[in-house]
Amino acid sequence: MTDTLPLRFLHRGQVVSLSNVAPDRTLLDLLREDLSCKGTKEGCGEGDCGACTVVLGQPGPQGLQLQAINSCIRLAHSVDGLALWTVEDLSTDPNLGVGAGQLHPVQQALVDCHASQCGFCTPGFVMSLFAFYEDHPGMPDRQAIQRALSGNLCRCTGYRPIVDAAQHMTELPPVRLDRQAVLDALSRIRPEPVRGAYLQPLELTELLRLRAEHPQAQIVAGCTDVGLWVTKQHKRFAQVLDVTRVAQLRQVRQAGGRLRIGAAVSLEEAYQALCGHWPELHAFAARFAGLPVRNSGTLGGNVANGSPIGDSMPLLIALGAELVLVSLRGERAMPVEDFYTGYRQNRLAADEVLAFIDLPLPTAAAGQWLRAYKISKRYDDDISAVCLAVALRLEDDRVAEVSIGAGGVAATPARARRTEDALRGQRWSPATVEQAARVLREEFSPISDMRASAAYRTQVLGQLLQRLWLQTQGHAQINLESLGSQELT
Ligand SMILES: Cc1cc2nc3c(=O)[nH]c(=O)nc-3n(C[C@H](O)[C@H](O)[C@H](O)COP(=O)(O)OP(=O)(O)OC[C@H]3O[C@@H](n4cnc5c(N)ncnc54)[C@H](O)[C@@H]3O)c2cc1C
Ligand code: FES
Ligand code: FES
Repeated sequence: MTDTLPLRFLHRGQVVSLSNVAPDRTLLDLLREDLSCKGTKEGCGEGDCGACTVVLGQPGPQGLQLQAINSCIRLAHSVDGLALWTVEDLSTDPNLGVGAGQLHPVQQALVDCHASQCGFCTPGFVMSLFAFYEDHPGMPDRQAIQRALSGNLCRCTGYRPIVDAAQHMTELPPVRLDRQAVLDALSRIRPEPVRGAYLQPLELTELLRLRAEHPQAQIVAGCTDVGLWVTKQHKRFAQVLDVTRVAQLRQVRQAGGRLRIGAAVSLEEAYQALCGHWPELHAFAARFAGLPVRNSGTLGGNVANGSPIGDSMPLLIALGAELVLVSLRGERAMPVEDFYTGYRQNRLAADEVLAFIDLPLPTAAAGQWLRAYKISKRYDDDISAVCLAVALRLEDDRVAEVSIGAGGVAATPARARRTEDALRGQRWSPATVEQAARVLREEFSPISDMRASAAYRTQVLGQLLQRLWLQTQGHAQINLESLGSQELT
């Protein structure tokens, strides 16, 4: 099926209008094959390398919001009504105003610092740095640069000169995007919620109506899981229902001691909200994929996808989160651990969507601990072999409350109820922790796969509980998460 209404977006100061774009066409294919923007490269085709990074602009609460994203796994239609920049545009977009024959400071700095050899990764680095440059006018520290580049791999230059360039670019004569001009141009593109086979509703009731009318349509949010079904499994979708423009699903709200995160809130924004209440989650949040994936991917997509090695679910289980499923018939809520019925299977009915993730906010009670541990082969931008999240409240040296979520240990994200029982009411002591670690190792039967053997997973589960014990005893140096904040020199 093809579209009747065109896909429209702002590119180089002009509205591009394209008809007959298939609902499952990727943005990268559209750029390279239809628009001949071949500066944007295809490396992995699965969101891992960053060679395909482009920047999107959309109106946000603080004006124009720029985000680096992976075009290889993003659907082309998802950029309808947005502004788009590729590597070619930095010296040609009139809203940037770089003089003829000149380079944008990002590009010039990479040249000056010898930060490119084969150059294949470079367009992606340029685009991640362009978004960063626009949002960080002063001299950035190297950790902030590393976070901005967490989704970009370079296999031959080495990162030190690239990080040098990211600092050097702020010393060059500045070039700033005319954000108001972009916003004005975007305001002239009226969003069309139904463009043939691509359904992109703006309101919740409209989403629910379309969901009920088209139960076979593929639901997508940020497409960071679904995109791989297209590029790697060559799946085709005749009709797509995109939830990311639904206003109610994009909000983070706080009321009555609870936090409500809309399912279509990006991972980056959702984790920022979580870190606002639980600052101890910063290191864990930064290890979820790389920034371009966190910019596109949503919290609801992570939960609905239901991968047993997904990172948010163990955390949400430990935090006592509930999922709110909504249809035209009404809504129902359930704890995260009750949502899953089997490997990547869940309780969503054919006419329902996941709308909200609700969590109780932390209280002022003393003795509260929250730790989320991710064990993966690579520190940055990697999927967990094991994930363990523990929320604990100690009172008079006893375990008053505990909830534990685990990933990588079963066919679904799981709650470690037997281990919780082994801890609840017990004295918080080495003997209790040793006993609970034994129970935790016995509670699950993980599998062996390319990420880890079953024996390793079982062993490491217990070790993580021991790590929590040591941290509660003030052994901060045991926190391996801090390794990720070491600078590249
Ligand atoms: C390079 C890379 C690194 C990654 N690293 C991590 C990582 O470190 N940790 C991790 O947990 N995951 C990781 N992922 C997986 C992925 O980014 C997450 O699962 C992400 O949260 C998916 O969200 P999305 O919005 O992109 O979902 P999509 O891909 O759009 O959708 C995923 C599934 O959820 C369904 N869905 C989405 N929204 C809704 C809704 N509102 N209601 C009902 N169904 C819905 C879709 O139909 C689909 O089945 C990584 C992916 C990539 C490509
Ligand atoms: S091509 Fe590797 S992230 Fe897109
Ligand atoms: S310059 Fe060759 S991969 Fe980065």
